[in-house]
Amino acid sequence: MELKNDLLLRAARGEKVERTPVWMMRQAGRILAEYRAVREKAGSFIQLATTPELAAEVTIQPVDLLGVDAAIIFSDILVVPEGMGLPYEMAEQKGPVFPATVNTIADLDKLRVADPENDLGYVLEAIRLTKSGLAGRVPLIGFAGAPFTIFCYMTEGKGSKTFSVAKKHLYADPEFSHLLLQKITDSTIAYLKAQVVAGADLVQIFDSWAGILSPEQYKIFSLPYIKQICDAITEVPVTVFAKGAFFAREEIGKLNCAVVGLDWNMDITESRKLIPDKTLQGNLDPCVLYSSFDQIRAEVKKMVNQFGTQRYIANLGHGVYPDMQPDKVKCFIEAVKEYSAL
Ligand code: CP3
Repeated sequence: MELKNDLLLRAARGEKVERTPVWMMRQAGRILAEYRAVREKAGSFIQLATTPELAAEVTIQPVDLLGVDAAIIFSDILVVPEGMGLPYEMAEQKGPVFPATVNTIADLDKLRVADPENDLGYVLEAIRLTKSGLAGRVPLIGFAGAPFTIFCYMTEGKGSKTFSVAKKHLYADPEFSHLLLQKITDSTIAYLKAQVVAGADLVQIFDSWAGILSPEQYKIFSLPYIKQICDAITEVPVTVFAKGAFFAREEIGKLNCAVVGLDWNMDITESRKLIPDKTLQGNLDPCVLYSSFDQIRAEVKKMVNQFGTQRYIANLGHGVYPDMQPDKVKCFIEAVKEYSAL
């Protein structure tokens, strides 16, 4: 189906746009009362994520309610370990937990490379339903975690400030680390390719924990695996968002990806210099959305002026927080549209 609004894809490919496209990481979620109602009906996060009709419904909500220029499929990065044979739970108010973890080669041998149709078919079905529900209004973004970020959760078993269990493996057992990272990478490539076949128009790789690695370790344990994914996904544009990896911007800019995501710690002008020939995405501090409407508009104006309206996809520098007011979120989106119009 032909897209009526293809600003995101044109910006990703570096083509001219009449205004900058805008969407938000974590837009399909708890900021919307309409999301909370569907989640209530589903009973739990995992029920919602594994029921394709409901996942499609909450994926489309921000397109209708907020006016964003893309939908992102409602799912989680942790479905990949689940698809490999390591189930997770989502503890209310606390976040994800893996009852079993992967810490030895014997643990790793029990896992499979995920087969997308068998192991993650519910996400693919949600993508197909979303595409048909969107009817070409805006593109649909698919996603996966970067292998290193998934490795963090699989070894640690839960969120952490330091991920010291995960990092211990990198230093103490690089052989185990590379074997697990490769198995995650193989699963992720198959999964992202299946998302594209199901209808994803662009895919984003979230390396949420990139910032805990040294530049040297990042080059050994994260970049080579992201590179394999970028080289394998040739059908649609790929966005790499490595939170906190300001030190790796130049190398990320040389990957086979169309778009590089920035967080708010990364200087815009400096990032344009380090990554001269790619589209950039980001990077407003989400906490700006706690300020007044006037302040939000002023910050957006500054951001758009610094990035320029072309080769740019406006976003926050990380996900929107659950307690943010939908009116403030809308103000951000409308300000981008206003200040970036040619
Ligand atoms: O962006 C979207 O709107 C699509 C949906 C989406 C979710 N998770 C839904 C979700 C996406 C893209 C993700 C990615 C994700 N999940 C990341 C990478 C992005 C980032 O924020 O860095 C990470 C690290 C996770 C793992 C995860 N899932 C955590 C740490 C948590 C708990 C903390 C939190 O943010 O709530 C989740 C739960 C989760 N994933 C929720 C949602 C809507 C909240 C669950 C609920 O509704 O109770």
